[in-house]
Amino acid sequence: MERITLHTQNTTYQIGINEKGFLLHLYYGPRTEADMSNLMTYCFRCGHGNPYDYGIDRTFSCDFSPQEYSCYGSGDYRNHAIRVRDAQGVAGADLRYKSHRFVDGKYTIPGLPASYGDAKTCEITLEDPRLNLEVVLKYGVFYAEDIITRCVEVKNNGTDDLYLNKVMSASFDFVTGQYDLIHFYGRHFNEMNFERTFVGHEAISIGSRRGVSGHQHNPFAILCDRDAGEEFGSCYGMSLMYSGNYVIQAEQDQYSQTRFQAGISDEMLDYLLPGGESFHAPEVIMTYSSEGLGKLSRNYHRFIRNNVCRGKYQHTRRPILVNNWEATYFDFTGDKLLEISAEAAKLGIEMFVLDDGWFGNRGCLDCEPVDGNIGDDRGLGDWFVNEEKMGGPISNIVEKVNAMGLKFGLWIEPEMVNENSKLYQAHPDWALQIPGKKPVLGRNQLVLDYTRDEVIDGIFDQITKVVDSANIEYIKMDMNRSICEAYSAAAGHQNFGEITYKYVLGVYKFLDKLLARYPDLLIEGCSSGGARYDAGMMYYTPQIWTSDNSDAIERLNIQCSASYGYPVSVVGSHVSAVPNHQNGRITDIDTRGMVAMSGNFGYELDLTKLSQEEKDKIKAQIVRFKADWDIIHNGDYYRVTPGGENREFVAWNMVSQDRKQALLNLVTTNTHGNPLVIYGKCKGLDKDTLYRCRETGEVFSGAVLMHIGVPMPMVFAEYVAFQYHFDAI
Ligand code: GLA
Repeated sequence: MERITLHTQNTTYQIGINEKGFLLHLYYGPRTEADMSNLMTYCFRCGHGNPYDYGIDRTFSCDFSPQEYSCYGSGDYRNHAIRVRDAQGVAGADLRYKSHRFVDGKYTIPGLPASYGDAKTCEITLEDPRLNLEVVLKYGVFYAEDIITRCVEVKNNGTDDLYLNKVMSASFDFVTGQYDLIHFYGRHFNEMNFERTFVGHEAISIGSRRGVSGHQHNPFAILCDRDAGEEFGSCYGMSLMYSGNYVIQAEQDQYSQTRFQAGISDEMLDYLLPGGESFHAPEVIMTYSSEGLGKLSRNYHRFIRNNVCRGKYQHTRRPILVNNWEATYFDFTGDKLLEISAEAAKLGIEMFVLDDGWFGNRGCLDCEPVDGNIGDDRGLGDWFVNEEKMGGPISNIVEKVNAMGLKFGLWIEPEMVNENSKLYQAHPDWALQIPGKKPVLGRNQLVLDYTRDEVIDGIFDQITKVVDSANIEYIKMDMNRSICEAYSAAAGHQNFGEITYKYVLGVYKFLDKLLARYPDLLIEGCSSGGARYDAGMMYYTPQIWTSDNSDAIERLNIQCSASYGYPVSVVGSHVSAVPNHQNGRITDIDTRGMVAMSGNFGYELDLTKLSQEEKDKIKAQIVRFKADWDIIHNGDYYRVTPGGENREFVAWNMVSQDRKQALLNLVTTNTHGNPLVIYGKCKGLDKDTLYRCRETGEVFSGAVLMHIGVPMPMVFAEYVAFQYHFDAI
């Protein structure tokens, strides 16, 4: 059988082309030079659809042979990867191998984010001549990184329309094995809960139909051996570089073979592909680890840091910021912002970020409260400065903040409009809404039609006027509701599935335009916290506000779960006030500081209301974070306490690339009378090296630190944080 083999340093991916041109998935796993078509079996099986050209031979069927890109109409009744309908409304295709080629460099995807770097591309073209259809499977092979990416281009080479009802980005089959699916579910204020589920003989499917990737399921999942743990076992990751409706699923078929796939949600896809045009399915970033979940995560950390994120701040420390949202909400004046900034400057904070409420009639202080919030029912869409509230043009404030030695950052939510806004009065048709149906509101707002260039340009022009008017070096780009009415007033042919896809492309277009105009701008992503925490956004926004929940103890879970697929360098994390505004919990400022340091560090509280002791601690935290930044962001990250467990404490550590330094972070999550001693372990050290603990002066071997750990002092309190540095001697 002809084979196409993709090698990375430690992994091999092999595809077979059988004698009839069917593309078979032969293997993905530890590196091997072998011919893996030996894994194929040809059993006589009844009760299946056999391709016509197999005649009376019943040893091959797309229903039980391992498929590389299963097609509806081929006789494969499992979850297929592609379903195409023709102009007569008939679904079904017969995709066979046409050609393949290797090219140097990494493919790009028109209109969609794609990873980049030192890679090779393999393109496999499948065709169905009856439909004039070509499907190009693209693979990006990152050798040193142990990463293989996939995406798909569907081409209509004919003149008749085709409709795409399903186009997965990646799909492959395992001929044997029993697996668990690890995924991360959640809600607003409670993102990223670890869940591990056995993949039995039913499809397990996570995804979003909200127009954004969503709080409910992160678009990243791991398929692993049932006994895989942090340090052992086979695991496969799929991370979707896409920020809209999607699905990731796994199922065991009737012969206990497992299919794993990811892509745009087919439930939401009905894409008209006219003759001569192409459709692009987004990229999936895949990795395989034979050494457990920890290694898989570290593959993703390095890759997202180096091959997904971009810009001036990709590898440099981002400014330590103070954001006024939890400090003031809408209740601020220009003078109040300056007071916070002045205090920030004294503490060593490097940037002031002005959050929601600076524009139009948004958050005006004399309006009626709605749901306890004053004025969040108005103003979105009107991106001009409320000079009355701010006490003058924004440049006045920015100049003063800059004069204090701070950078200035600004919040925007460019995809949204309130009915109570000048923009909506002028352009009601710019909002996505169905004629004759009252729209579903979310936070009193509607979603703008980002499938239309004039809408994107209109918002872009407004926002760039503000950014041009002052020295604004950071933008927090928010998105606070899901899409419900996918109806575009401009689309002649109304097509729900098309609009949700084109909307996401519109968001990427907006971000592209912003970065083209301001290449040094740091954009922090946000979507009511972590509703758009995906590798697609990370291409544009190298940091993302991970959750609106700023409680240090809940953040332990959120940040630990995020670490399965995403690096610390993306996490946005701030110290906020106590009692915490989301759950009322009281934690010490040391604990809040330490947890927030495992990310892009900042503060989100009224600095003018702090005690001297708190101010002194904040000053010290800032000095410490700056000193530790390199190991925190560029070091290898290890979960000492894995996700999903009921724990007495949560611990994680970072190790420098040369293994000469480690930073252990540990927070107790429970307290007891007459407690047990907690031993804080580190992982990833050199077992034969001796390390001195900077805090206690004690010396331990790497082996002891990894196998037993160091005893933590007993402290009579709840939620205590320990941070220990270990230096090789
Ligand atoms: C969202 C964000 C918050 C804050 C508010 C402002 O909820 O996640 O951080 O910016 O919007 O309205």
